[in-house]
Amino acid sequence: MSSLTGDLAATIGAEHVLTGPDLMTGYTTDWTRRYQGTATCVARPGTTAQVAAIVQVCARHRVAVVPQGGNTGLVGGAVPANGDVVLSTRRLRRLDPVDTLAGQVTAGAGITVAELQAHAAAAGLEYGISLASRDSATVGGTIATNAGGLYTVRYGGTRAQLLGVEAVLADGGVISRLGGVRADNTGYDLAQLLAGSEGTLGIVTAARLRLWPVEPHAVTVLTGVGGIETAVSLLAEIRSRAPGVRAAEYFEAAGLALVRAHTGLPAPLPRAYPAYLLVEVTGPADQADHLARIAALEDAAVAVDPAGSAALWAYRERHTEAISAAGVPHKLDIAVPVASLAALRGALDGAVSAAAPPGRTLRMIVFGHIGVGNLHVNVLGPDPADQAVDEVVLRLAAAYGGSISAEHGIGRAKVPLLSNNRSAQEIGAMRAIKTALDPVGLLNPGVLFT
Ligand code: FAD
Ligand code: MLT
Ligand code: ZN
Repeated sequence: MSSLTGDLAATIGAEHVLTGPDLMTGYTTDWTRRYQGTATCVARPGTTAQVAAIVQVCARHRVAVVPQGGNTGLVGGAVPANGDVVLSTRRLRRLDPVDTLAGQVTAGAGITVAELQAHAAAAGLEYGISLASRDSATVGGTIATNAGGLYTVRYGGTRAQLLGVEAVLADGGVISRLGGVRADNTGYDLAQLLAGSEGTLGIVTAARLRLWPVEPHAVTVLTGVGGIETAVSLLAEIRSRAPGVRAAEYFEAAGLALVRAHTGLPAPLPRAYPAYLLVEVTGPADQADHLARIAALEDAAVAVDPAGSAALWAYRERHTEAISAAGVPHKLDIAVPVASLAALRGALDGAVSAAAPPGRTLRMIVFGHIGVGNLHVNVLGPDPADQAVDEVVLRLAAAYGGSISAEHGIGRAKVPLLSNNRSAQEIGAMRAIKTALDPVGLLNPGVLFT
């Protein structure tokens, strides 16, 4: 009988089938180093037809397929379990000219967010998703996770950018809807079904994406605040005067200290504060003036040019790398109604210390997309396999009427806790969809469901 790797090599070329630990480590360990697995091989197709052929070969050999883009996901969803085939989409590099009439573009799954942003900018348009992983995170991965990011408060998450997909299903069939017809009421929206499906329903090979007009860069403000309650009310005041808020981010003294130790950046403000609010407003000049006036009342750093803005953003964007440099974090990505943010934040300290293993002190770093009620709770200290703090924090979010995954997904990390957010009926309906499209569980088993 032929071997799996032999059949894959015959299908896509031996040079695109990676085997052996040295070549595969970057694909079998996640970005945080918390999740690891083993793979039979990594297959790197260059076309949609090759993706379909790989799926068929794996089905014949009864070996699961784990789709992987940039491997920047934070919930272990792109990490293989035992002996799966990792299907890397990075060679799917289609990038069509921007359709400036429609404000749309078709991009291959392996195009990175940064490449897409640059491509849109060259045509005078803007992609609505931006995130610190932009140089590695891919179009396919951001669709599969329905990534949020820094501008969600203005443009929505990846679902809101998605107009159509091309994807390979578990039977090797290809669905394609890349025409960009926005007025289209012809049944189920399969693109939206695949968004957030975390590689369990199909492998996205290309997507039709919405672009936005470039807005005049106006003003970025970083201000110190007493805590999250003040940050929430200051943001509400800013939004009432400047509806063009496109980013509203929060971080705290503990995170700033880590970022500064990691990067060597100077203090952002003359005084130190318990917490910080970063707001970016674009649009008409009078909105920017309002923000600048509000900022003048506070201790704030204000930037009106891209370089100055990037310097302020670094304090927020470099949190993830600074935390990972300090250890293997437990990354808990939660959201609650904005009105409950302060109460949730108040409850977190006690809940996290109560979950500490005997004799250990845990470090908690909280930051996030406060404009959409999303906090990233990062805990350093527990062993990677210890789930105690994960359970406590995620249950707390659910108890405050929130989500156990604001933007990173369920992956392998949060499978046992999905029922905190989804009813038995909802999980049953999701399982029915999974079974209909992937009856033998070929695609990403162990992700989203047990
Ligand atoms: P991967 O990590 O490779 O995969 C993620 C999931 O998608 C897996 O389940 C995988 O199986 C599936 N998948 C990948 N490609 C495909 C495909 N073509 N078809 C079907 N399934 C596929 N996330 C946010 O939402 N907002 C942020 O602000 C943000 N900031 C980040 C900053 C840093 C520094 C880092 C490291 C991560 C950040 N993330 C953020 C998380 C991560 O970047 C996103 O989840 C991103 O969408 C993952 O894209 P990827 O290409 O790396 O996907
Ligand atoms: C972010 O907002 O920076 C990301 O979601 C990454 C993280 O949570 O660390
Ligand atoms: Zn985030």
